[in-house]
Amino acid sequence: MILPALIDPHVHFRTPGGEHKENWITGAKAAIAGGVTTVFDMPNNTPSTTSTLALQHKKEIINEQLKTAGVPLRYYLYFGATADNLNEIEKIEKLKDYKIVGVKLFMDASTGNLLVDKLEDQEKIFKTCAELKLLLAVHAVTSAKRAIELAKKYNTKLYICHVSTREEVKLIRQAKKDGLEVYAEVTPHHLFLTENDQKRIGTLGKMNPPLRTTEDKNALWEAVLDGTIDTIGTDHAPHTLAEKVVPEAQAPFGVPGIETSLPLLLNAYNKGKITLEKIVELTHTNPIKIFNLPETGDKVEVDLDLEKEVRNEDLKTKCGWSPFTGQTLRGWPVATILNDKIYNL
Ligand code: DOR
Ligand code: ZN
Ligand code: ZN
Repeated sequence: MILPALIDPHVHFRTPGGEHKENWITGAKAAIAGGVTTVFDMPNNTPSTTSTLALQHKKEIINEQLKTAGVPLRYYLYFGATADNLNEIEKIEKLKDYKIVGVKLFMDASTGNLLVDKLEDQEKIFKTCAELKLLLAVHAVTSAKRAIELAKKYNTKLYICHVSTREEVKLIRQAKKDGLEVYAEVTPHHLFLTENDQKRIGTLGKMNPPLRTTEDKNALWEAVLDGTIDTIGTDHAPHTLAEKVVPEAQAPFGVPGIETSLPLLLNAYNKGKITLEKIVELTHTNPIKIFNLPETGDKVEVDLDLEKEVRNEDLKTKCGWSPFTGQTLRGWPVATILNDKIYNL
């Protein structure tokens, strides 16, 4: 079975500044292994991608690493919003060739130092993005309501990352009914794990937003099936095992996910939980529409009957672990076609 290659609209490939966790050599290989040929990378790097200079620098490193990898992975970047970089955001418009897919705003705490939690600063960012017709993606663990209100007030095209609760689902469903340009993403870990799994996997299940209840998970599935959720973004956020396997309070937030997303979805298809059409809509068609991307012709060949266990030693991500390790999944990508070149998996 041949499907369109996946677009992952939410990854943290850790470059620059966190290359011991991931870089674009290992990240590109992990993407291909997961049937993904296009990624959108987040700006919480060291230094953060919050100026055009930092953006230029980041692109140079990425291009060099992709060349070394021999994988011309397609990528777009998010530009980070801060309380005082509106002048930099205004410059983005003129940098069309920089492939910026939108502005990222951390309304709640996260990895990195990009938190903007003052309402007046957030207002300015929503307003500026609306004026410049830039999509605004938000990390809003508790602030989804405020984000939707601001999108309504300023007419901002809003993309809510990693929706994880039934309350958020309700708000987004209503916002769509009200005709707002509000889009929503869900991660594989919130679709396939709950807080009950955290007892088993410990700090490997620590991420932001955290794993939720079974009721939340069920609400997310309902929202996926009724169109309230538009996309699946893996929030691929690797940290090394040495960083992760420490007492709970010290463990960083984040899990890798780009290699396991498609197998998890195909496994769900095999269980009758989702159709292949829906998988394509979430991972290909909707991202193209929301972010105005060109069609590429990239494909992924999948073997719907192949059964395989997720094993650390098979993973291409530099961090070398997965919260799904030990799970046997049915349905795997077997070849990824990027720019007419076939990568057998
Ligand atoms: O769990 C998370 N990890 N959530 C985020 O928002 C950031 C990410 C990271 O960069 O580690
Ligand atoms: Zn986030
Ligand atoms: Zn993220």
